[in-house]
This record gives sequence, structure tokens and C-alpha cells, in this order.
Amino acid sequence: MGTDVGVHRFMTFRSHSYYSARLLLIAAFLLIMGSWWLAGCELLGEDVPTLAEPTGPVTYEAHIQSLFDRKCIACHSGEAAAGLDLSSWDHLIQGSDRGEALIPFRPDKSVMIRLAESYDRDPHPGGKSQLTDKEIGRLKNWIADGARGPLNSVPYASSANRLYITHASAPVITIIESSKAVIIARLELEDYGFTSRARARHVAVEPDGTFWYASISSTRWNEREVVAKFNRSNQLVAMVPVPDPGQLLVHPTRDELYVSVAPAIDDDRIFHRTPADRREIVRLRRSDLFLTRLPVTYRDAYPLAARPQGDAVFSSSMEVDQMVILKPASADVTFTPVLGTKHLFRHFSVSSDGRWMWGSGYWSNSATLFDISNPNDLVQRQSLWMGFDPRQIVWGPDDDLVYVAVRGADAVQVINSTLGSVDYQIVHPAMQQPVGIGLSPNDSTLFVTAENTEATWRGHHQFPEDPAPGLILVIDRASRQVRKILESATGASAVAGR
Ligand code: HEC
Repeated sequence: MGTDVGVHRFMTFRSHSYYSARLLLIAAFLLIMGSWWLAGCELLGEDVPTLAEPTGPVTYEAHIQSLFDRKCIACHSGEAAAGLDLSSWDHLIQGSDRGEALIPFRPDKSVMIRLAESYDRDPHPGGKSQLTDKEIGRLKNWIADGARGPLNSVPYASSANRLYITHASAPVITIIESSKAVIIARLELEDYGFTSRARARHVAVEPDGTFWYASISSTRWNEREVVAKFNRSNQLVAMVPVPDPGQLLVHPTRDELYVSVAPAIDDDRIFHRTPADRREIVRLRRSDLFLTRLPVTYRDAYPLAARPQGDAVFSSSMEVDQMVILKPASADVTFTPVLGTKHLFRHFSVSSDGRWMWGSGYWSNSATLFDISNPNDLVQRQSLWMGFDPRQIVWGPDDDLVYVAVRGADAVQVINSTLGSVDYQIVHPAMQQPVGIGLSPNDSTLFVTAENTEATWRGHHQFPEDPAPGLILVIDRASRQVRKILESATGASAVAGR
């Protein structure tokens, strides 16, 4: 210590015993004072917890609800502003009239934090002046730890009503709780070791929801392309390399996952592949991802669907108008030509009784009905004009109505399958380039993804630095009204659920 050195030098300079004794006393006093002073500094220092600041994990009641009670619930309870009720965790996680207020583990993507951090954010009346930096920090830590509630649980961690959304223009998978219509997870593929060029093409979910699978490709040739298996907590538990993985189909009765080939259109990979690469459908054993290749004569067999009876899986070539019929029991592959106009089917959907299948034709801009009650003798029935670029199709309940997202028409066409005609269409200013469509498990709600490619619809939560969001329209099936518009990463595309 500095005082020590000074005292020693002084003592050798004046070696008289009397002075030495006095000096020693002074030195001792200085030493004690010095160390006390230094210790005091430490106690008051930045790292040292004080009573006011919580240490360890932030808990909901003690640190978050009390904050909301003091600063927010004057406006956010009862007839709550924007429908966001902050009077309890149960209310908070139901979000606002527009969607989720926060995304567990992602403070950076949470509306609540982004609003709190911007001073002049119109239209939130308070802006940053509502919360101190310390309070914002505490909110962020709590969200980063999963936005856990009173019972220490992550919002909707045990919910069975999940829908998975892929994004054509971002390395993201968005997960929605479909009964509340809120975003509950936003998975960044880069967090799983993929590059920013990775894209999830499609998702399929186990019937009991315990595991789900994603086909992950890249916009650049020679980067990792896989089918990945995730558990309920969204941990990546296994993956297997598959080039250009396309659609995924969980077989209704067998331990099998079918993987088709994605059509290579707008990237550099098409120049690097030989035609032979693209002539197979891959079959994985779901339990261990053991891979079998099923040769297909024609390139780019993309759509996939199965009869619920499990005796046939259907695909179709996006290069030559051929239907592909796979028999799971024998692994036989047979082909049937498509009749009449050139269709090039991109999506299939099968009725719950296994009698009918609609397909959306990329070339014909039509939806076509097949009678598949005898899978050995596929019968092509009728085609209906959908408008430019029909995409994902889904059957409604009772095998009656069929919903088709039509990208170029900015509409969902609703087919009455019994009458064989277009019944009506659903349009909305936010339905900009709709591509994906799915139903909630109780069939009450339709979820339609809109790419919003031209940024025609400005997001409600869009900040100036954000790209135009991909949209998920939440539509009440009975009234055909758009209830909510969820905002997520750009290019929201396929929808998958159980
Ligand atoms: C003086 C009233 C008032 C107070 C106090 C207030 N808010 Fe708000 N808040 C509003 C209003 C009004 C809106 C809707 C603004 C709009 O139309 O976008 C809103 C919107 C929000 C939204 C966005 C909801 C959505 O989905 O668009 C969040 C998140 C939010 N408030 C959080 C908070 C938090 C956290 C606090 C406390 C720190 C708070 N607010 C305090 C009035 C208030």
C-alpha cells in the first residue's frame, strides 16, 4: 500500500527512536483509516447490491406487477387502453387487441420494451418518461428469463394450441398460441447455428405436439440444408442433411415423415445442381430420423398430402404435370398424368374422411378436385379459377368449405366443395400477398399469413428502422371478420399445426 512505502523511506531518513515510535503510530493510524476508506468505497461501489435493487432473478409479483400497479394500470385495466390489461400476469400474456405485448426470451422483439425505450413514440402517450432506465432494465431481464409468472412458468409453455409460421425472407420461425392469437415464440435460426441465409420452408407437428420438424434450406448453395427435429420447448434435438428440403408430411399412422423437394427458383443453387439431384422424396423414421430415399421419375415433387387412412401419400411434379402416388406399406411409387390444362400443383389438402383432395395449380391458377377414395384409381373431377398464384389450401370442418390463400389476388377464396363452386372471398387491406393458411384446433379461427412484400400495410408496431413486417391475419371463421393482425418477421409464409 502507498502509505507503507512512504513510512519506510521516512524512517531510514530520520533514525531517532522517539520520532520512530510516533511515526509508527501515525503510520498505523493511516493504514487503518486507509483500509477503512477503501472498504467504504467498495461498499458504495456499482457492483454492490443495495436494498432497493433486487438481486438474482426478478420475480413477477415483487418486481413486475408492483411496477405495473404503480405506473400502468391507471390506463391498462378494466376498459384497458388498446385492450392491454396489466392488472395480472394472466391478463398480460393475453396481449392487446393487436397481439402480444411481449415475446418470452426476446426483450429486443417485445413491443412493451420497444415502446418503453423510445421517448417520443407516437401514439403511446407515456413514452420513455413512464419508466426509469432501472425499471426498463428490470423488465428486460424478466422477459429475457422467459417472462415467468407467479408459478414461475413461461407463458403458454404447456399450451397445446400452437401454430408454426415460416418466413420466406428471414431466418425465423414464429410460433402462435392459436386460442389467444398471440405470438408466444420467435425462433431465430441463427441461435441454432444456422447462417442469416437459412430459411425454414415448412413445418410439420407430431399429432401429440411433443415434437415438431422444420425443413431448413439456405438461399446460398453449399450451406447446411437439413430436416431438424425440435421438442416442445423448441430445443433442437436432432437433424439430418437433406438437400433442398421442401414440404413435410407426418404420416397419420406410421412412424414416418415425408420430405419433398423444394422448387429451386430464385437463387444460385439451381446452377449448381444436376437434374438427378432433384428426383426423389425422402422418408425419415420420426423416432431416429433414419433416412430412406424414394426415387421419383420427375423433378421437383413438391406438394405432399396423405389419406387419413394412411394407405397413400400424394405428391406432384412442379416440372411435368404428373401426380405421384406413394404406397407407404410397400414403398411403391406410381404416376398418373394430370388431364387437360397444365396445372403444376403446389399444395394439396385432403378431407378428413379421406375421399377428396384439392390441389392449387401454380401454372393454371386454379384449384382442382380429385376423388381419392380409391388411391389406386385417382379421379380428377373439376377445376375452379382462383386468380393469380394460388398457394396453401386448408379444409374447414365438416368437409364442406375449402380455403385457398391466393397470393396474386390478395384474397382467400372460399370453395363450397359440395356445390363445387367458389362461395365467397375474404379480403382485407392487410391481406397483402397471402400465402399460408391454417385453422385453430377448434376450427373457429383462420390464420392467414401475408408476405406484405410491397410494404403496402404499415405495421401498427413498426418502428422506423424496421423492415415491413410479415403479417398474420386472425379471422373469425363464422363472421369472416379480421379480428387481429399479428406482426412478425418479413415474408410470413407457410402455416402448420396439428
Ligand atoms: C395515460 C394512460 C397510459 C399509461 C399510464 C400507460 N399506457 Fe400504455 N397505452 C395507452 C394507450 C392509449 C395505448 C394505445 C395507443 C395506441 O393507440 O397505439 C397504449 C398502448 C400500450 C402498448 C401497446 C399495445 C399494442 O399492442 O399496441 C403497450 C405495450 C403499453 N401501452 C404498455 C404500457 C406500460 C408497460 C405502461 C406502464 C409503464 C403503460 N403502458 C402506461 C395508455 C397508457
